[in-house]
Amino acid sequence: MAVRFGYVGCGFVAQGVHIPNFVGLPEVEPVALAEIRPQLGEKVQWKWGFRKLYRSHLELAEDSEVEAVGVSAAFSEQSVIARDLLRAGKHVFMEKPMALSLAEGEEMLAAGQEGGGRLMVAYMKRYDAGAQLAKKYIDEFRADDSMGTLFYARNHGFCGRQWDAGFRGRIETTDEPRPEPGPSRSPDWMPEKHCGAYVWYLQQYTHNVNLLRWFLDAGDNARVTAVDLGPDGYTGVVVFEINGVRAIIESANTSHFGWDMNTQVFFENGWVKTTSPPLLLDNVAEAVEVYRGHFIECVKSGEPFRSTGEDTLTDIRLFEDMFRLWIKFQS
Ligand SMILES: NC(=O)c1ccc[n+]([C@@H]2O[C@H](COP(=O)([O-])OP(=O)(O)OC[C@H]3O[C@@H](n4cnc5c(N)ncnc54)[C@H](O)[C@@H]3O)[C@@H](O)[C@H]2O)c1
Repeated sequence: MAVRFGYVGCGFVAQGVHIPNFVGLPEVEPVALAEIRPQLGEKVQWKWGFRKLYRSHLELAEDSEVEAVGVSAAFSEQSVIARDLLRAGKHVFMEKPMALSLAEGEEMLAAGQEGGGRLMVAYMKRYDAGAQLAKKYIDEFRADDSMGTLFYARNHGFCGRQWDAGFRGRIETTDEPRPEPGPSRSPDWMPEKHCGAYVWYLQQYTHNVNLLRWFLDAGDNARVTAVDLGPDGYTGVVVFEINGVRAIIESANTSHFGWDMNTQVFFENGWVKTTSPPLLLDNVAEAVEVYRGHFIECVKSGEPFRSTGEDTLTDIRLFEDMFRLWIKFQS
């Protein structure tokens, strides 16, 4: 039986990524869409085959036909939307950031418990084929100790202009103004003048913090030990202890066109490194590099070398064969 699916907020990410992906699945039935901007809602409703269109997420929350809902809206709005849907018993898939404060996030989880809906935050890096492979290597090396102690992790995240991989052409638009963002939902202890920097850093580096915690299997065992960010609250270095490992995130925006992001997990005898594609680039996974000593390891363990003398004889034979043939046709 197909999952009866709804979506709230049909802007850039919804149209460029999530709605096409969900609606393309045979086990999804697109039932209802909610969008504050009515003309945009109508265009997207017909393009992707949603049977019903609502102006507000609250109306969609009341639709008992809808089981699961995707949500993407402004940073200040999407946590409220998700909370209301969870309270109404819908399963929710939402964009990051989940919430702008811990208190708000806890309120969302409580709403889920109250209503029975489950929440997934769409951290795509945890589902990236390359990142999954890197995680597998890291888990293996930690379990068998073959690379020695895992002692350091580094995430370098310098954002360039290529984050959206240039796919704006696929998006339906209208002249309707975007809704005004609601009141600041930053933590109540935070001085108002710093809220902008906080939200901007959070919305970007939530990917990086989440990925490091996952690579290091930390769960909630993570804390901030030092912060050296510039006056913009964005450019610099933050140091963490994540599952007992020192880890850093290097952050900046640069004007270059590319996307300069990689994560390196260091063991005493080598490392696992992933290099990230631009955030929204389709069908390109993180590139994975494993650096480890081979000769000494094999001498110690008795494991076969990957490039043995016996195997290399084949290459030499092929070269002799090539030149045997070549010489035959000379003069
Ligand atoms: N994972 C990633 O790499 C990535 C990349 C870009 C954006 N995002 C996230 O996606 C989210 C959305 O970004 P976007 O660029 O699509 O925004 P957007 O402004 O283009 O789209 C949001 C849409 O939601 C509608 N909306 C707002 N409140 C609503 C409500 N209560 N009911 C119904 N409709 C409502 C708006 O009218 C708008 O059309 C952001 O929170 C951002 O963090 C994630």
